[in-house]
Amino acid sequence: MAAKKLCEAYSKSLIDEVHRWGCLKQTGVSLKYMMEFGSRPSERNLLISAQFLHKELPIRIARRAIELENLPYGLSEKPAVLKVRDWYLDSFRDVRAFPEIKDTVDERDFTQMIKAVKVRHNNVVPMMALGVQQLKKDMKQKVVCEDLDEIHQFLDRFYMSRIGIRMLIGQHVELHNPNPPPHCVGYIHTRMSPVEVARNASEDARAICLREYGSAPDINIYGDPSFTFPRYVPTHLHLMVFELVKNSLRAVQERFMDSDKVSPPVRIIVADGIEDVTIKVSDEGGGIPRSGLPKIFTYLYSTAKNPLDENSDLGTADNVTMAGYGYGLPISRLYAQYFGGDLQIISMEGYGTDAYLHLSRLGDSQEPLS
Ligand SMILES: Nc1ncnc2c1ncn2[C@@H]1O[C@H](COP(=O)(O)OP(=O)(O)OP(=O)(O)O)[C@@H](O)[C@H]1O
Ligand SMILES: [Mg+2]
Repeated sequence: MAAKKLCEAYSKSLIDEVHRWGCLKQTGVSLKYMMEFGSRPSERNLLISAQFLHKELPIRIARRAIELENLPYGLSEKPAVLKVRDWYLDSFRDVRAFPEIKDTVDERDFTQMIKAVKVRHNNVVPMMALGVQQLKKDMKQKVVCEDLDEIHQFLDRFYMSRIGIRMLIGQHVELHNPNPPPHCVGYIHTRMSPVEVARNASEDARAICLREYGSAPDINIYGDPSFTFPRYVPTHLHLMVFELVKNSLRAVQERFMDSDKVSPPVRIIVADGIEDVTIKVSDEGGGIPRSGLPKIFTYLYSTAKNPLDENSDLGTADNVTMAGYGYGLPISRLYAQYFGGDLQIISMEGYGTDAYLHLSRLGDSQEPLS
């Protein structure tokens, strides 16, 4: 991995600039605002949006770049982490190097540029996971999970910020689509049926289970398919339900695979409340021991064999597996919290697990920024 030393690859003035921008205040946007703004994608609005991003993205990127420099336990020096830092610095430089956005021509060029920035960061999650894994290997048994609290909190902030940056860029880029799908404002769907999204996500998870185990428990979904949400991002919901169902299928499969009993189905219940829409994923996969519960939302805990391999090509590898990164739950919770929701796991050891995914129906909470 050809990660460069900071002083070799980046000028002092760039690094100083990163530190200046990293101190500026970030501006959060709500789902509601994104939708209202995006429902009128006039040239003028696109220009305003681009000008906002031109100022906001360097602030958010700089904050993360600075944090990447100052991680505990030598994590910052791990080659994979240096690589991620370089992506952040390159993107900071690209956005800052772009001149003032004055008209539609500038706006189009800017949009192309940030689109490329988003692609550059596609593999940040597995790359960071690799860095953390390298660290874990060095430390071996020396540290217990609590010592890694600081790293865990950093990763929560880091991935949350990434969700926000990608949402803002993706939303802006998507608003240029001349033929948006019906009821879509950029990434946001104005009539999303949670039952339908849950069904698609379940099918995807079940296909992976079938591939991996040769069989898969049934999944039953309860809820009104015609019920729709006034605003949400279907890809986010898909990802969360997919992760939860994958966990449930794995647990049930592992428990019943070698027994002569029929696997009990995974049950998904969709409830539409006034404040929240709640999705419960319920399984009889034996639950999680209470001693394991504090760890399930950390980025280092998985009871599956880790599929990450330092030699595997992160760009091309088919890295969708049943389990193994220990990222499914913490990342899903961040997606839920990003728009004001949450994720809770309740387990009955010896019986099964319930995951409660709460989504705020109003969508008026600001992005959580730190
Ligand atoms: N429904 C469930 N039943 C039993 N154990 C579960 C369930 N959901 C999660 N777990 C436990 O929590 C751990 C962490 O789950 P998480 O989804 O974060 O990571 P993972 O499934 O191991 O890997 P991946 O990143 O691929 O999802 C799992 O390894 C498993 O031990
Ligand atoms: Mg998982």
